[in-house]
Amino acid sequence: MTTSLPEIMLPGRKVLVTGGARGLGEAFARALVAAGAGVVISDVLHERGEALAAELGDKVFYVPMDLSDADAIKAGVDTAAKHLGGLDGLINNGAITNSGGKQMADIALDTWDRVMAVNVRGTWLTTVAAQPWLAESGYGRVVNLASDTALWGAPNLMAYVASKGAVVAMTHSMARELGPQGITVNAIAPGLTLVEATEYVPQVRHEHYRNGRAIERAQVPEDLTAAVMFLLSRGSGYITGQVLPVNGGFVMK
Ligand SMILES: NC(=O)c1ccc[n+]([C@@H]2O[C@H](COP(=O)([O-])OP(=O)(O)OC[C@H]3O[C@@H](n4cnc5c(N)ncnc54)[C@H](O)[C@@H]3O)[C@@H](O)[C@H]2O)c1
Repeated sequence: MTTSLPEIMLPGRKVLVTGGARGLGEAFARALVAAGAGVVISDVLHERGEALAAELGDKVFYVPMDLSDADAIKAGVDTAAKHLGGLDGLINNGAITNSGGKQMADIALDTWDRVMAVNVRGTWLTTVAAQPWLAESGYGRVVNLASDTALWGAPNLMAYVASKGAVVAMTHSMARELGPQGITVNAIAPGLTLVEATEYVPQVRHEHYRNGRAIERAQVPEDLTAAVMFLLSRGSGYITGQVLPVNGGFVMK
């Protein structure tokens, strides 16, 4: 059996990208459009999401969807599927990414709860809402955004690290639950990547990453897109429950 090029390309695919209005989600949306997919961007940054969807053309839609709101998730996923005529891909990318910079003793309870509600519960509920659509497509693909911070034990980032550790664990269990429906679930674990959300990260942490990588340069969003596109493709259908660090070799599993 040979793998033909169409099996690793995405023309006509129908993909929802949560948190897609900026940063890595925006990069994934742009890459998906370039690969020929239809895309729904969801976010809480409504003006940016609408502007991005308008820029990317008539196969791209913006749907407001707050990942901390269970009803909004269900309604948002169904609206996304109606725009695209179904769903065969989901990138669980939306997250609270700015909770770092404090030792665990100083993290507010409210911060912890908000990070868990969006990053963990939101990922769970979005996947549940998408499950019927993904199953109907016959080859659903879920890509969760974990983080290598959960793999190397980044300090001063405990709520976020815990949330991404949960995403890793959920990826394994989701893969087993959804496998019988032909749905694969994988995660990528990016290293510290240059986006506006990481501008607040102290320079010393950026240097720690840069010095610890096998590929000694800054990581940019485009370093992640090919891995995500592959995991969304039909050709990746026998890979599931895996966590792929994409971080220039900073963490090696
Ligand atoms: N940039 C990095 O260094 C890095 C490293 C590892 C993992 N990640 C992961 O990649 C993903 C994208 O992160 P990013 O770096 O682009 O940061 P980001 O903050 O720009 O992206 C997160 C997106 O989620 C959205 N969001 C936040 N709260 C939301 C809510 N309640 N409902 C819906 N959307 C919400 C934000 O508006 C934003 O568009 C995240 O899951 C992040 O944890 C990023």
